[in-house]
Amino acid sequence: MNDSRISGLYRLDVAARIAKLEELGWLAPADAARLREGRHVLSAAAADHMIENVIGVFGLPLAIAPNFIVNGREHIVPLVVEEPSITAGLSAAAAMARQSGGFEVASDSSLLIGQVHVTDMADADHAIAAVSDAKASLVEAANAVHPRLVARGGGVRDIEVRLFGLPDNKPLLAVHVLVDTCDAMGANLVNSICEAIAPKVAALCSGRVALRILSNLADRSLFTARVRYSLPEEERDAIVEANDIACVDPYRATTHNKGVMNGVDALAIATGNDWRAIEAGVHAFAAATGRYQALTRWYTDADGMLVGEIKLPLKVGTVGGTLANNPAAALGLALTGVKNARELAELMAAVGLAQNFAALRALATSGIQAGHMKLHARSVAASAGAPDTLFDVVVEKLIESGEIKTWKAREIIAALQSDVDEYDAPGASAAGKVILLGEHGVVYGRHALALPIPDAVRVTLTKADALTHDLPEEFVACLLRELDAEDARVRITLDSRLPFGKGLGSSAAIAVAVARAFDAYLDLGLDDERINEVAFASEKLAHGTPSGIDNTLATYARPMLFNRQAGLQIEFLELDHLPPLLVAWGEKTGKTNELVAAVRARRERSLEQFDRVFDQMDALSLSGADALRAGNWGELGTAMNLCHGLLNAIGVSTPELEHMVFLARQSGAVGAKLTGAGGGGSIVALCPQGIIEVRDAMRAAGYHTLVLANEDRT
Ligand code: MEV
Repeated sequence: MNDSRISGLYRLDVAARIAKLEELGWLAPADAARLREGRHVLSAAAADHMIENVIGVFGLPLAIAPNFIVNGREHIVPLVVEEPSITAGLSAAAAMARQSGGFEVASDSSLLIGQVHVTDMADADHAIAAVSDAKASLVEAANAVHPRLVARGGGVRDIEVRLFGLPDNKPLLAVHVLVDTCDAMGANLVNSICEAIAPKVAALCSGRVALRILSNLADRSLFTARVRYSLPEEERDAIVEANDIACVDPYRATTHNKGVMNGVDALAIATGNDWRAIEAGVHAFAAATGRYQALTRWYTDADGMLVGEIKLPLKVGTVGGTLANNPAAALGLALTGVKNARELAELMAAVGLAQNFAALRALATSGIQAGHMKLHARSVAASAGAPDTLFDVVVEKLIESGEIKTWKAREIIAALQSDVDEYDAPGASAAGKVILLGEHGVVYGRHALALPIPDAVRVTLTKADALTHDLPEEFVACLLRELDAEDARVRITLDSRLPFGKGLGSSAAIAVAVARAFDAYLDLGLDDERINEVAFASEKLAHGTPSGIDNTLATYARPMLFNRQAGLQIEFLELDHLPPLLVAWGEKTGKTNELVAAVRARRERSLEQFDRVFDQMDALSLSGADALRAGNWGELGTAMNLCHGLLNAIGVSTPELEHMVFLARQSGAVGAKLTGAGGGGSIVALCPQGIIEVRDAMRAAGYHTLVLANEDRT
């Protein structure tokens, strides 16, 4: 079975995406060639044979959403749709669903209903009895219409009768023919059956046939999809609430269900199915209780997982209809990897549920517009040729500029590239830090192990009429005092890939980078030792009694084992191999001072037990340093996992940190732990088996990430 996971598709161009699908076995070489050459599109001449008065064909984007697992099968979803965010939302929702095995979809039957409406009957009760008595011969007559359908295992399964009163009180009988149309959608098959048996029905009822045609309310072809997601509690509850709103308010239910149909229709069109039929059936079904409602249910299960369910009437086909005439539809169908109409309907139900999840999650978190903007900015950045290393910064700057245009993206890229040259000039950049093992223990004299986040912060100075910057006043004043540069008239421009307050040493890194930039600008001739002292002074201002480790790492940018017995003792590590690390953070920020104080209070209550924990942390830092030197990622990962357990035990973890750690491990990290003081902030994950998978899973769950390894090493 092909793997449907494809990450980073949005960064490829169209030709590269086609090549990727071909390479992974999702596209046959002939279909790939058709797509490349644009030969998959219906010709005007062929269109002229399909409908009347043709003057051309109409284009819409054809995209794919990867990552789907439905009933254990891997699928790619082709989508024909013009609205941004739909594809990205679906892909992310499908990727997240993989963590709990993907989507399960069940159905009882897949029958299409044909209707023969009879009125002007002499006696309605007599008509109902006559149709029921003649059921066997009616089924036989109906099946005689399509012997080949019967030979394929399909055919009429049952006949049912429903009685209504017309507005003038005349009785109306609806005779339903329930037909198994196999892999065809079956509209023509069923219409011809209705027409063929109509005279017989009229005779049996002693009445007049008014209508003979299928029903698009396909409630004998119901597909129920189910999925489970592991999410932070607030997000999970917000999604449940959003669904509850759509269950009680028909105005909201309409928009909610429109979101479901964004995916269902896009797949229906891509596979040549009649999306108007599906739309009509689905909305009628949504109103089956007498009030129009959400098609989905979202709730929390006993394990705290978010569970979603959708039930959709879906009578779709994988043979006949447009599929025979439209090469694009045949190609779309081939892309899905489904083997029959049942599998297509199962995939469609899963897509509807995934699309709804994506919309509710966006609504419950950043809001739909922010997502749209980001996606638009990403595609503009890609089309302007933003290099990988600058891609995320270009996207952010584009959004900030409010001018999401290709010319603006080119301008930003050019500016960033010239900045990069300046940053490469000595003295303008500094490292962040990530503690791999031993935080908190270090406060009580034990060892900790930390790595730099190289070139995390860049500062440039440009001539200005006065000192201008966006940094805290006191912080800059302290640095300038230390540097004896209080009269400088410059603009300080900061570019940082570190978030503030997430335990990654951003304030120390900024201090070091500012000091270095002034050193270069004013030719002060400072060495690293002095730069480190200057930064330490600003750290004292910000943190009271800092350990000095952040500024030391920011300055020297070297891995180090350290402790704080009789001052800061540092042992730099020489490493042959850099560990493939991913740093991730959420929305919550921990306050270092408060966390250190809380641990101190707990330790005072249980001194010996806490000191035993700190001894264990110490041993883990030392053995972890050995594993790091040896490039033994398995052992290092175990040390990280154990250290995280101890940090949790001393009370500095949070549900968000636990979720991030869980997700990282589940998506392949061999070790994952909170890093820094905890209470919010960041995690660090060791990912020798594929950092991109872990990064994508974290991103799909809404966290921010930083990769600390060359992507080509993974
Ligand atoms: C937009 O095409 C679809 C949404 O409005 C669906 C929803 O609100 O659930 C985002």
